[in-house]
Amino acid sequence: MSRRHNVLLFLCFLPFANALYKQWIPDTNFDNATNWDKGSVPCSNDQVVFSAQRKVSVYVETAHTITGMSLPVDGELILASGAGFTVREGGDPGCGSGVTANFKDSESLKWFDPSLWVAATTIDDLHSGTYQFSVHEESVPCQYDDVVFRETTSFRVDVSSGHDVPVKSVSVLGKKFTSSSEFSQYLSSNSGKLQFHGSSSLKVGGSGCNDITGCICENSGNRDKICSNVKCDSLECKKPLHPVGHCCDICGAIVNVQFSSNFNFESYRQRLQHLFLTVVQRKVELSS
Ligand SMILES: *[C@@H]1O[C@H](CO)[C@@H](O)[C@H](O)[C@H]1NC(C)=O
Repeated sequence: MSRRHNVLLFLCFLPFANALYKQWIPDTNFDNATNWDKGSVPCSNDQVVFSAQRKVSVYVETAHTITGMSLPVDGELILASGAGFTVREGGDPGCGSGVTANFKDSESLKWFDPSLWVAATTIDDLHSGTYQFSVHEESVPCQYDDVVFRETTSFRVDVSSGHDVPVKSVSVLGKKFTSSSEFSQYLSSNSGKLQFHGSSSLKVGGSGCNDITGCICENSGNRDKICSNVKCDSLECKKPLHPVGHCCDICGAIVNVQFSSNFNFESYRQRLQHLFLTVVQRKVELSS
């Protein structure tokens, strides 16, 4: 009997990984429409409200005209060159009747949520949006990774964890921290406290992965925290598989590879990518 199934070709490299750049997706930018409860950036007839008790660091990219602004008790506005606010009493026909625009809450965004990160092998790939697919545990930064918060953004991330969270480096507003003392100084600064909250010791200064056969990410200790942020899709295949390091079962095939000490993880990864994954996940038809 022959049946045809659609499956997703899903190549996973665990437990081996090379060092990656991991970039945090959300931002707390004034100019990002998704940060406002009305779904658009406030314009000149609008009243801008940051709730009083909400701690937030907001990056402002451009010049804005508004009707008024309520500021939080503890917060900051980071102004890019040329950015700023002019206050004018309404009357702009292009801005509707004027609303109260509330800045949304970013309190609940968690470091350990794999959907809030993208990964790339080089900075250029990160900038061009050529991202790597990873299993859930590896989507969250590992000890060998360079963590990037986009240059012209601010953010707020909950780094709560019962233990140390080691990474290689952290870049914030274009400044790259590779020394643990310098970074802990930043964490205790005003901006640092507004951007990183929760009880954890985020530590930079890791060595990066220097083994050409790949390194073990070791995020498995955070598995429960990571997977608690993931909702798995229901699957249509008869015998789902569970890739190591992934929170969900998948339909597909797992290939096990044995290798020796001169195996080069990165060139193998590139070859697979070239052969199968020009589009990260491509639907293939298998018959069984
Ligand atoms: C706005 O924020 C959303 C969600 O945080 C993010 O995905 C998107 O990239 C941001 N947009 C811009 C233009 O940066």
